[in-house]
Amino acid sequence: MTNYSLVFKGTAFTSKNSKDILVLKEHLFCINENGMIEKVISPEDTDYQTVLDSHQDKPYFHQLKKGQYLLPGFVDLHVHAPQWAQSGTALDLPLYDWLNTYTFPIESKFSDLDFAKEVYEDVVRTLLANGTTTALYFATIHKDASLLLAEICAQKGQRGLVGKVVMDDPEQNPSFYRDADTKTALAETEAFIVAVKELAKSTKQGVYPVVTPRFIPSCTDAALKGLGELAAKYDTHIQSHCSESDWAHSHVQERFNKNDAFALNDFGLLSDKSVMAHCNFLDTDDVHLFSKTGTAVGHCPISNAYFANSVIPIVHIHSQGVDVGLGSDLSGGFSPSLFDNARQSVMSSRMLEDGVNPNIPADQRGLPSSRITINEAFYFATAGGGKSLSLPIGRLEENFTWDVQIIDSTLSSAKLPIFDANEDLNDTFQKIMYLARPENIQEVWVQGEKVHTRQ
Ligand code: GUN
Ligand code: FE
Repeated sequence: MTNYSLVFKGTAFTSKNSKDILVLKEHLFCINENGMIEKVISPEDTDYQTVLDSHQDKPYFHQLKKGQYLLPGFVDLHVHAPQWAQSGTALDLPLYDWLNTYTFPIESKFSDLDFAKEVYEDVVRTLLANGTTTALYFATIHKDASLLLAEICAQKGQRGLVGKVVMDDPEQNPSFYRDADTKTALAETEAFIVAVKELAKSTKQGVYPVVTPRFIPSCTDAALKGLGELAAKYDTHIQSHCSESDWAHSHVQERFNKNDAFALNDFGLLSDKSVMAHCNFLDTDDVHLFSKTGTAVGHCPISNAYFANSVIPIVHIHSQGVDVGLGSDLSGGFSPSLFDNARQSVMSSRMLEDGVNPNIPADQRGLPSSRITINEAFYFATAGGGKSLSLPIGRLEENFTWDVQIIDSTLSSAKLPIFDANEDLNDTFQKIMYLARPENIQEVWVQGEKVHTRQ
């Protein structure tokens, strides 16, 4: 008998590819002590009954109840952890004003470690309760508070990729919220990287430092160059905002006479471990550059509805070989749920395809073939996010991590409308994706450890 740390029996949904869902009905999922899926066994496999018999009486055996389903945990590719403190506010302002009047003042408060602890514990707990098992975080400019966020992820069992934000240009950033100078910004980033790598040694699910220029407008050339060098020296992930809005996109064009993508690449900031948020205004050459360098797009559909002045043609970008995942962009996006973002990504894509101005004739109104399905949105929220980060996460498959959410469709306060015991499981999957609320998430596991149970 093989020793497993955990065995789960139940029905699961995972992506076969970006367009199709694999329904794993009443499968066995055998997890090893490292929290990796060692074996997935279907009822048709010859060893199913033997494995079931040898594990089903053990304390580590988990049988899902009727009406419960397994989904991979979500991978949120773009979260501003400090902005959780202002989620839902000021969304009627344009990006530039929102940053200067709301966001920079709130982020500046994270020099206070007590305040940082209160907000960061709450945001990590909230994201886990919403099924997000991996998050790519922007913290603030403060090294110690950024490290605290990484420590809180480590303690609470979430896989956190965390960046100390760099914004060093005194011309562009307010005096109350910017790095002291370029040299300090780079030295603190390096110290942060070293500290998080040390923390990672004792963190089962992994915690990762991320090189994080806020966006080109907030950084000097020297900082951007230095950050590219640090990312190469320590082989870290990299994140930033790229071609998000008319204002941000044209600001970079005026400064460098090129688009964000090429400017970032010149500084060594595009790589297989880079995730760029938004990217609404990528042109064809930018898309090729992303594909060539392995840079991923963190698609933030709710936030984009407020700040990006456009709907990103995400399916066209993905079809050119660019990795894509979903981001909540708290708090440009108000919702901590990737269910909500998946729904918005589908709705936005439909509006892009049809177009939105009824005064324009139907055949000229939209951008043809732009729609995505809920299956594709689910792929972006799970497997696509994992691929974007080059980590074995986001799929319920052998050699992937046991990062899951258990959805309970029977809860009296949030029952899903399933009335036929023999309903096609593809329909059940769609009902979960469109209707599940946080209460339906019964348990969340990361790397084989239970990290959330619904109260
Ligand atoms: N561009 C620069 N900073 C930010 C931010 O915090 N949120 C969004 N949405 N865009 C940005
Ligand atoms: Fe953002």
